[in-house]
Amino acid sequence: MPNDLRLDGKAAVITGASSGIGSETAHALAREGANVVLAARREERLQELAGSIEAEYGTEALVAPTDVTDEEAVGALVDGAVDAFGGLDVLVNNAGLGRGSGVEDLSTEDYRTMMDVNVDGCFFATRAALPHLRETEGNLVFIGSFAGQYPRPSNPVYAATKWWLRGFALSVSSRVGEDGVAVSVVNPSEVRTEFGGEESFEERFEEGEVTEPDEVAAAVAFAARQDRSMVSELDLYRRDKFSGF
Ligand SMILES: NC(=O)c1ccc[n+]([C@@H]2O[C@H](COP(=O)([O-])OP(=O)(O)OC[C@H]3O[C@@H](n4cnc5c(N)ncnc54)[C@H](OP(=O)(O)O)[C@@H]3O)[C@@H](O)[C@H]2O)c1
Repeated sequence: MPNDLRLDGKAAVITGASSGIGSETAHALAREGANVVLAARREERLQELAGSIEAEYGTEALVAPTDVTDEEAVGALVDGAVDAFGGLDVLVNNAGLGRGSGVEDLSTEDYRTMMDVNVDGCFFATRAALPHLRETEGNLVFIGSFAGQYPRPSNPVYAATKWWLRGFALSVSSRVGEDGVAVSVVNPSEVRTEFGGEESFEERFEEGEVTEPDEVAAAVAFAARQDRSMVSELDLYRRDKFSGF
């Protein structure tokens, strides 16, 4: 890859870095030379990931145990990244989860958990990062979903959080584009990760059946490395997605 298309020396914060798409994204960005700040609640997982990133790519990987629903913790996450690396070039808003399925039987607790993480967490991180991204003319990447683009019967509240995220991202883009900030939404369909209910997508799907997290990470890296244009939205679907959705 030509040097001007790599992420050498850039500082990237990734939320939800402890597994799945977030963990693979940390690898993908560090592989292109970025220093990464790994945020999630499971600190041990982050430590392990940081060790393997530093050993494999020689870039810095900072462990930042963070609950994205805690706005002060999210502020400290962004401040810590800026202190450590002298600025912030990339934020990947990836932390997210699904709980329950139908509406009539969804508990208030599960409803609040999805809203707190997928909506509030994304807002807190974006709010904290934007002043720094304006300074660097950086890249803001959101992990949306197929469920945020089409009506989904399987979990309407989860789907609605992703419609919110997309609406937020595209509207933020209309506000910060003039300042040189790129805003991208990557919308995957099913990805083999720990995502899911009692049976995770990793367990439910065989390899090759749906998308793998490293494919989504490659899409995020593509969006993050744009320094003139921006990738506004990138849809990454399993090949049979339109066969019966
Ligand atoms: N897998 C799919 O089929 C699929 C499809 C489309 C979109 N997505 C989206 O992709 C993103 C990543 O999901 P994934 O598939 O990689 O699932 P995953 O393996 O379950 O990863 C979810 C990540 O979110 C983090 N997280 C959850 N609650 C958090 C909180 N309160 N504070 C900080 N981090 C939190 C988790 O870390 P801790 O538990 O350590 O905090 C974990 O690192 C999500 O936004 C999801 O909605 C997934």
